[in-house]
Amino acid sequence: MKITVVGAGAVGATVADNIARRELCEELVLLDIKEGFAEGKAMDMMQTATLLGFDTKITGTTNDYSKTAGSRVVVITSGIPRKPGMTREELIGTNASIVKGVTENLLKHSPDAIVVVISNPMDTMTYLALKSSGLPKHHIIGMGGILDSARFKYYLSQALQCSPGDLQATVIGGHGDTTMIPLTRLATYQGVPVSNFLDAETLKKVAADTMVGGATLTKLIGTSAWYAPGAAGCALVESIVRDEKKVFPCCVYLEGEYGQRDICLGVPVVIGKNGWERIIEYQLNAEEQEAFNKSAEAVRNMNQVLQTIPV
Ligand code: LAC
Repeated sequence: MKITVVGAGAVGATVADNIARRELCEELVLLDIKEGFAEGKAMDMMQTATLLGFDTKITGTTNDYSKTAGSRVVVITSGIPRKPGMTREELIGTNASIVKGVTENLLKHSPDAIVVVISNPMDTMTYLALKSSGLPKHHIIGMGGILDSARFKYYLSQALQCSPGDLQATVIGGHGDTTMIPLTRLATYQGVPVSNFLDAETLKKVAADTMVGGATLTKLIGTSAWYAPGAAGCALVESIVRDEKKVFPCCVYLEGEYGQRDICLGVPVVIGKNGWERIIEYQLNAEEQEAFNKSAEAVRNMNQVLQTIPV
């Protein structure tokens, strides 16, 4: 089985590195537009094979999509990352045409692939990939909520002084500093609501820190993060290729679920061999539903920008 990762920058390379270490496929293709870049990253990773003990064959290519032919899953990380002080939304002008072109090229050679979109602004890029490709909706998955939920669990574990693995916590809505919704009411520590252990003020701070989790890292590092985005992308790919049926919050096309339609937005979905297979409908309270509707409005406004830029 073959998997392609487009974009050999920090996020793309980390997704690829994780996929290889976990031996999720026999062949892994890394593609980039920068001459020799993907080839170099692939070679560097292949030289870890004997040290880390994996058998996945990684190859790199400069923009030759024929090398990606027959991929079961394709991961799109192309485009520019944000710089300190930038929002993900500010990237739309540059990234929209890149993501559209990449999706078209990939699907020429792998028409049945399941597409994982990581490029920002992710909710709008997922919507664009879906609309421009005409693929079945279950084949297009935006990666945001898994990452945001991992950050949510990190901040909760810091507040609770506990293992992040003992937490269940979900972020739905958009993958933006103001559009994501950490569901604190539904977060649990070993099945017990976290509100049993943390006061309302602490929970508010955890939610606020989660929402700007990516921006905090961008400020510290000088560019956007890659370890957690890369691991989150890989977790998504793993649930597809191993048909794990794990529930992850992902950006998918809604047709009335959670009260929204004609939009790609983060909700909990079952991920398996058919892509996203089923949406899990949580019973949101009025406040959470209102936040979700507001998030949808912001993402819809961003989607409308697609009409005004040449893509
Ligand atoms: C982040 C980018 C990948 O949240 O959106 O780090």
